[in-house]
Amino acid sequence: MTAISTYTPLVAVDEKRPATFQNEIFLEQRCPGYLQTSISHSTPLVSPRRTQNALLLKQAREQYTLVNDHSIPSISNKDEILVKVLAIGLNPIDWKGPAFNFGIPSLPWINGRDLAGIVVEADESSRVRVGDTVLVPSTDYRDIRKAAFQEYAVATHYNAARIPPSQCIHASASLGVAFVAAILALGVSFGLDFAAPSACPGPNLVDVVRRLPDDSIPSDIRDECLTARVESERLRSGNWIAIWGASTTTGYITLQMAKLAGLKVICVADIARHGSRLVELGADVLVDRHDTERAIEIIRGVTQGQLRYAIDIVGKDTATLLQRALDSSIHKDGSHAHLLGLTGLPKERLPGICYHTVPIKLFHTSSTVGESMVTWLETLLASNTLKLPEIVRTEGGLASINASLEILRQGTASGKRVVVDLGG
Ligand SMILES: NC(=O)c1ccc[n+]([C@@H]2O[C@H](COP(=O)([O-])OP(=O)(O)OC[C@H]3O[C@@H](n4cnc5c(N)ncnc54)[C@H](OP(=O)(O)O)[C@@H]3O)[C@@H](O)[C@H]2O)c1
Repeated sequence: MTAISTYTPLVAVDEKRPATFQNEIFLEQRCPGYLQTSISHSTPLVSPRRTQNALLLKQAREQYTLVNDHSIPSISNKDEILVKVLAIGLNPIDWKGPAFNFGIPSLPWINGRDLAGIVVEADESSRVRVGDTVLVPSTDYRDIRKAAFQEYAVATHYNAARIPPSQCIHASASLGVAFVAAILALGVSFGLDFAAPSACPGPNLVDVVRRLPDDSIPSDIRDECLTARVESERLRSGNWIAIWGASTTTGYITLQMAKLAGLKVICVADIARHGSRLVELGADVLVDRHDTERAIEIIRGVTQGQLRYAIDIVGKDTATLLQRALDSSIHKDGSHAHLLGLTGLPKERLPGICYHTVPIKLFHTSSTVGESMVTWLETLLASNTLKLPEIVRTEGGLASINASLEILRQGTASGKRVVVDLGG
């Protein structure tokens, strides 16, 4: 007898029986109703459910509408998998997109960028197996099949990370997009080498990107991906970095990854609220966000006016402040200061600073980049190296998402990710 899944062995199965049959037993137990037919040894996967509940955005500036007759998406190639969604992590863009009418390719549309669930279909060549519990950062928002606000979502195996049994599936659902943004910002835009840390080494993404044919990188992110090829511009262990918005989920992950790679990190946040957790995660200097002029003075003082790297995770106004904390002189080796804005960059730019946006789509457009990141994420989770965000878990499934997004919009979750439970 053997268990069907290395990570979540729920049923013992007869190993003489074919894999398809074992998968059916597993699916019926973990995802009741996915298979409508009764399972028998001679009846393979013949009649899976065809429709599902999904949350549709019918018009911009409207609430999402729950429907029960949306087609379950189909996988279209060997790299794709189908996931039964069990938990959805909510991101600010899930309410900002509809409210400000951006990031919606057409209407009606399905949104949702972070999910965790059980793999119910996968090709034999896939790096994940049927029955694996995975988290999926769904950065490919133009493909409606991959959206999180539905019972079943398509993903690629190189964008799905297996969740080890030691980690909570709901907390895991909260971290995907934040992880992708943090790693691409530090590892690609700033060229930080994650292969160096001894604790839990990861990919050197500059090398990974160097090996990609230039024309395989989408033209709108190509320059961003190639900046860090210049060695003198790269962020290195021992350098200072400032993070404005360190209490955001993306900030928590960025801080942890920066510390893992040996950086000295200045965190700007509401220190009374978030200071204790930021210290726990290794922050070197805490700066309160409320007196902004003083914050800039403190950052300049602590770094003796030599700060060369900064990430803003709040918006254009704070990015504009943060650029004043940087040493914007061009050094003798020709290198510059670097500012990355996740939510906007200053209108007025300073000479001597290179401005960056995160090349988020590299995660799904390059299987090599995607796979190197999710493989590393699996190790970070299994070794407990990465601390998961604190979450607020809401019940009520897809129907509760409108109300849950309101918690996010009002800012009352304050540093915690809202995660919607979809049950088994
Ligand atoms: N471009 C991309 O691909 C990409 C990817 C990921 C994220 N993002 C963007 O990055 C931003 C953060 O996303 P997230 O999901 O990580 O956020 P989040 O977890 O929802 O962030 C909430 C936190 O923001 C803090 N905050 C609010 N205003 C602040 C200010 N003026 N200064 C410092 N902190 C402030 C709040 O602090 P308090 O508790 O003190 O109120 C709260 O802790 C969003 O705008 C998101 O759209 C972009």
